[in-house]
Amino acid sequence: MMKSSSDAAEYDRASEVKAFDETKAGVKGLVDAGITHIPRFFYKSICDDSPVLRDSQFSIPVIDLGGLDGDSLERREIVDRVREASENGGFFHIVNHSIPESVMEKMKDGVGRFFEQETEVKKGFYSRDFTKPLFYNTNNSLYTSKSADWRDTLTYRMAPDPPNLEDLPLVCRDILVEYSKQVMKVGIFLFELISEALGLNPNHLYDMDCAEGQLLLCNYYPPCPQPELTMGATKHADADFFTVLFQDDIGGLQVLNDNKWIDVSAQPGALVVNIGDLLQLITNDRFKSVDHRVLASHAGLRISIASFFCNVIPTSKLYGPIKELLSKNNPSKYRETTVKNYISHFRTKGLDGTKPLDHFKLTQ
Ligand code: OGA
Ligand code: NI
Repeated sequence: MMKSSSDAAEYDRASEVKAFDETKAGVKGLVDAGITHIPRFFYKSICDDSPVLRDSQFSIPVIDLGGLDGDSLERREIVDRVREASENGGFFHIVNHSIPESVMEKMKDGVGRFFEQETEVKKGFYSRDFTKPLFYNTNNSLYTSKSADWRDTLTYRMAPDPPNLEDLPLVCRDILVEYSKQVMKVGIFLFELISEALGLNPNHLYDMDCAEGQLLLCNYYPPCPQPELTMGATKHADADFFTVLFQDDIGGLQVLNDNKWIDVSAQPGALVVNIGDLLQLITNDRFKSVDHRVLASHAGLRISIASFFCNVIPTSKLYGPIKELLSKNNPSKYRETTVKNYISHFRTKGLDGTKPLDHFKLTQ
């Protein structure tokens, strides 16, 4: 078993991480074992001096997608709000997005059942093989980041190439499929709104195959005995075009705005949308992929489901700044890359607080 020695000379991080990984029981396994001191490889490592701002002027915009059948004026207003939010904070809430609260609640319960099923059954899904359509582990970046996060994650790819139904966990099979289908519908609609917000034809991003991939990360954050020492999710920006996030009402998600951390509090029935690196790249920095993090907490278990829009199956398609958005005064800032190349760089780099996007910047 692991020990959490505070003696640097005795500390063999690599073997502690490996021993933990081999338990296949995740962070939940540590909590179930009743630990009171967290293993040292969970200690946060990024020096982050940005203050947390409470009651700030800035709040995450809430965009109501309801009443969109027909009236073009309303659609224009919605598109304007999407543009404003994407150019500035990079985060917004959507309400009246068409996914019933009952489906969201069932998804949360299903994810809970997955993590709370018998450990022996759960271990069968434990893997770090990203080519698999479904797997669970603790920290996709366990071996590349300096510090591990206090969460376990069930990852599944619904597009392209979804898993066979019989390969999905029995305890949540139907709801995993149902939820992802509904989020895909919302995602395709958001691609339209975002295309229009860029002054492009509504199908522009869809036609660039931006909507062909959907990867869902179901995050399970157990309560932490020493939350001040670690993170639920280390500061990062997402590597995709955008993410649609459902979070329960526990809280802890924060977004960096003007070098200050702002709480992204749960809004009943709402989903969080955040712009990812690939959208920042193809919009030549017009839309912003913004850093965010999740605090670890003593408070109860937290569950979130992040739906990432990008195709993780390798294709040769190249993405660079969209030609229609470029001009003499706005020359291309990035070189073209495949999604695979971008994600490989993102993954091998690990979470060290610096921006993976910078690696793709053209020197000017
Ligand atoms: C993520 C993420 C936030 C959350 O999985 O990329 O930022 O609230 N999750 O779990
Ligand atoms: Ni994220």
